[in-house]
Amino acid sequence: MENKINDILAKAKSLLPNAKTKGEVAAISADITGPNGSLTALMKIIPTLEKSQRPAAGKMINMAKSQIEPLITQAYARIENEQMAQALGESPDITLPNIDAPMGTLHPLTLTIRKICDIFKKAGFTVAEATDLETEWFCFDALNTPADHPARDAQDTLFMPRQTVAANVTKHADELYLLRSHTSSVQIRAMLKEGAPIKILAPGRAFRRDTVDATHSANFHQIECLYIDKDVRLTDLKAALVYLFKSLFGESAKTRLRPSFFPFTEPSFEVDFMSANLGKLSNKWIEIMGCGMVDPNVLKNVGLDPDVYSGYAFGLGVERVAMLVHSIDDIRHFYTNDVRFLRQFSGR
Ligand code: PHE
Repeated sequence: MENKINDILAKAKSLLPNAKTKGEVAAISADITGPNGSLTALMKIIPTLEKSQRPAAGKMINMAKSQIEPLITQAYARIENEQMAQALGESPDITLPNIDAPMGTLHPLTLTIRKICDIFKKAGFTVAEATDLETEWFCFDALNTPADHPARDAQDTLFMPRQTVAANVTKHADELYLLRSHTSSVQIRAMLKEGAPIKILAPGRAFRRDTVDATHSANFHQIECLYIDKDVRLTDLKAALVYLFKSLFGESAKTRLRPSFFPFTEPSFEVDFMSANLGKLSNKWIEIMGCGMVDPNVLKNVGLDPDVYSGYAFGLGVERVAMLVHSIDDIRHFYTNDVRFLRQFSGR
């Protein structure tokens, strides 16, 4: 009896893990534990045994059964997994996103930046970027902004303690670092890197020590535009502005320049625009940004000859444009991340 049971166990252990189909597993288990199976046959012998031998025989058969049954279950599970993997091609790709996962949306400021960059990409501009942390030279000196200019005042510019910034990266490492107060510093970085001609748009963060209210934020976003080539004129700047505001606010948009002053442009202007599609603000001049022809001193500071090259630059506030386009009344909406506000820009 014991030998027979061991034979049946050995057979189950060798056949079941190698069975290829559920049918094979079913046939093997029928052969062992089915009504006409070998183990069942042994159980039927028990009543014919001597009374004293019956309990031991029954125990052995039950032990064998308890070992064989899990082998059968495992074989079925293994084959099912193999068939599933085959149906899915290779093994299932667990990195695929869950189709039920809620999808986020792009932030309205990102959407505004992309929209404006797309408008200028059509005119051959590329996107340039630089760091938020700058030295005074890139942010001011190179931009023809003297040491006594109010923009450099610690009151409205965020300087870094000298020791917190590693003296590496630039040849101006011995200077004070600051969070750039405008994106105009990217003009300098881009011209030093690429030379001229150059046509870039530089979106990014700018920082000023401002008290936060409905229209002010200490951290806001600007898009800098710079175009330098031979023979770039004021009329090219005006044409670019007309193109920008018609693209943003429709064909009815008008643009005008008012004389102004920036140390890095000469002449300098404030840009006003007017549009028929702006609700309460329709058909009124709205001051929107600063611009001008790049000052010859700025070109000299980056090694370009102002007798050969000329160009224009402007700096546009992203929040301001987004607020006008979407009639948003408070700049703080952009930063508090209330999903009820953000979802309105999902386009879904
Ligand atoms: N950097 C200026 C500002 O932040 C804007 C500007 C950019 C003006 C380029 C002229 C040319 O106010």
